[in-house]
Amino acid sequence: MPRSKICRLLVLLPALLTPIALAAPTPIESRQLLFQDFKHDIAAIKRIVNANTTAHQADLLRHARALAFTSARLWEHLAEHFPTGSDQGDTKAGAQIWRDPVGFLKAIDRERSATAALLIAAQSVDVVAWRRSYGKVTDACKHCHQHYKR
Ligand code: HEC
Repeated sequence: MPRSKICRLLVLLPALLTPIALAAPTPIESRQLLFQDFKHDIAAIKRIVNANTTAHQADLLRHARALAFTSARLWEHLAEHFPTGSDQGDTKAGAQIWRDPVGFLKAIDRERSATAALLIAAQSVDVVAWRRSYGKVTDACKHCHQHYKR
């Protein structure tokens, strides 16, 4: 590509990027996107632990890391993802989140500890430990959904 054309492109770039910035997700949309990430990694991990072989350890480790990464993104920006009033709208978040923030934080903590333990287990080739720690993560998902999701 000739230099002048590249220069023209660079000048145009901010204009091209603006519509993307305007389409930034709302807090409800962004937290739901992160929960979708949880779902995809959990589904992949389930397949790996149920296969009952250590052949896919590298994949397990990748998904366990992704789970921990999503968890950090979601919960470390709690106020951003769960602002007051965001139980209204196209959401299944329960009002209980804002009524019982301490309980919600405990439910978060449970998921984070379970995810951290899974990440450690995924570094071994102990399929029994994989399955046990996977079960603790899904228990933590269910526990929070029972109390804080409609
Ligand atoms: C501390 C509470 C909590 C934990 C832990 C939790 N969730 Fe959720 N989850 C929620 C809430 C609240 C919603 C509703 C979000 C909304 O609709 O705004 C939700 C929604 C979802 C959704 C629907 C997203 C959508 O597109 O509407 C999926 C899928 C999901 N969670 C999967 C998981 C999985 C898998 C785990 C475990 C790895 C998990 N969640 C752990 C609270 C939690």
